[in-house]
Amino acid sequence: VASLQGKNFMNIDELTDVELRDLLSLSAQLKKAYSSPSPPVLPRPCEGKSVSMIFQKRSTRTRVSTETGMALLGGHALFLGPQDVQLGVNESMRDTANVLSRFNSLILARVFAHTDVQLLAKHSSVPVINALSDLYHPLQALADLLTLEEHFGKGSLQGKVLTWVGDGNNVLHDLAMGAARLGMHVRVACPVGYEPNGEIMHRVEWHAQRSGGSYVMERDPMTAVAGAHVIVTDTWVSMGQEEEYERRMRDFEGFQVTRRMMEHGAKGSNAGRPACVFLHCLPRHPEEVTDEVFYDPARSLVFPEAENRMWTVMAVMLSLVGGGGRGCEVGES
Ligand code: CP
Ligand code: NVA
Repeated sequence: VASLQGKNFMNIDELTDVELRDLLSLSAQLKKAYSSPSPPVLPRPCEGKSVSMIFQKRSTRTRVSTETGMALLGGHALFLGPQDVQLGVNESMRDTANVLSRFNSLILARVFAHTDVQLLAKHSSVPVINALSDLYHPLQALADLLTLEEHFGKGSLQGKVLTWVGDGNNVLHDLAMGAARLGMHVRVACPVGYEPNGEIMHRVEWHAQRSGGSYVMERDPMTAVAGAHVIVTDTWVSMGQEEEYERRMRDFEGFQVTRRMMEHGAKGSNAGRPACVFLHCLPRHPEEVTDEVFYDPARSLVFPEAENRMWTVMAVMLSLVGGGGRGCEVGES
């Protein structure tokens, strides 16, 4: 298993193919080992380690999964909300990174501008994890890919179609990058003016060409979901865009994921599992997906997807502190 020791975890693009696959395997391994009904004495490979979690925005999943995951690994996590630390009010990224590096083994940060998490990484002497910026959400992409591998089978995402319907945002960027790297055909349907970042999508195309996948942009959601194995969306109003709410509600008309859309996806089932499934990173609002789709017990994977945030962030933390490869094996290797 490749260790990420000495690196940062900023986006899916910066990983090697081997690192991406290893993180998914380690996540599955951790899930198996730590959720066993009668666990033996669980290993505590992060004993004595700590992670500072800087949150400039709200969070349920990222905060709780990291805090709980670090505790399971035997380490300690500290929540630093916007009101709790000097950062941004009275202290620079540079000074904060310098100071936290002297206390902690890892720094995790959820920021507005991606340049802020890059600044932290530049001045930190310990690994930095991007826990969502305006451009990327790599922890979410890992959880999504793990969820899809659980559903379709490990190593079987090659050639499957993943369609994103909605806003061309941070969550899409890393998910598209990861999906393309695993050989998936990525389609994006978004309204005019809400396209994903062009430079990032060039990287997605590059990865797709290498892996046998593809990337296309469609305007009509129904065309984009035809035959899709995965249909995925996110909020139309990301954190920090609240004042655009009214305009976005108008502009995204017709982009709500509905049962009709799901029925346009891949038909039938494989080994009793639906051929077309739904993903959403949460938090969810009714405008982007109907209750019928979101709570569909067979096709919606949203809650396993949320759970997988913990197994994947554990794999990331363990790999960054040098575990998962050297002396920190968990379960079978
Ligand atoms: N999906 C996700 O990152 O959720 P939180 O904002 O609750 O962390
Ligand atoms: N796109 C959303 C994701 C939240 C997890 C946001 O940036 O607010």
